[in-house]
Amino acid sequence: MMFPRVDRDPKRVPEQLKCALRGLLRGKLPWPAYVFGPAGVGKTCAALLVHDTVPEAFWADAELLAEHAYEAESWPWRFAARAQLVIVDEVGCRSRYSEREYLAIKRMADQCHRLAIPALWVSNLSPEQLRQHFDDRVFSRICCGTVVPVKGKDQRFFRRQNGESLQRA
Ligand SMILES: Nc1ncnc2c1ncn2[C@@H]1O[C@H](COP(=O)(O)OP(=O)(O)O)[C@@H](O)[C@H]1O
Ligand SMILES: [Mg+2]
Repeated sequence: MMFPRVDRDPKRVPEQLKCALRGLLRGKLPWPAYVFGPAGVGKTCAALLVHDTVPEAFWADAELLAEHAYEAESWPWRFAARAQLVIVDEVGCRSRYSEREYLAIKRMADQCHRLAIPALWVSNLSPEQLRQHFDDRVFSRICCGTVVPVKGKDQRFFRRQNGESLQRA
């Protein structure tokens, strides 16, 4: 029996985000990229689509990096050092690890910069909220390239409002 797949549909990526990602992947817009917007607009799905198209992309959420913040030799840092693209989702979403998350994000940003690896940061926080959640140092490291605001409906609800079956094969 085939286990059902959850499809990531490029057509459902919000237009402004699609445009920016295309520009970034073609080298027309500067890295790093900071993508932000409210929950459910499709940021994670869009980043996963990017991950699908870049053969050696590294994916982590900020919480995972925070868990490894003090382990200089552990696998996320080594894997990310060899990647063609580093994607970090859920930046600034947790307060539980805020000190560790701060160190981890700063460290990943510095590592990417040192090794000239493009980084895609995804968050629900606006750049100004990010600055307040962390500080100027994190803000300047991850918002210094292309900042992409994403607007739109929460697709988690939109899907149901449209009457699309939740059990679609
Ligand atoms: N490109 C897409 N293809 C398919 N489903 C999507 C897409 N974008 C969003 N969705 C649906 O909307 C939900 C929320 O999207 P997600 O990317 O997790 O939002 P965000 O990261 O902005 O909170 C997903 O779980 C999925 O069901
Ligand atoms: Mg998300």
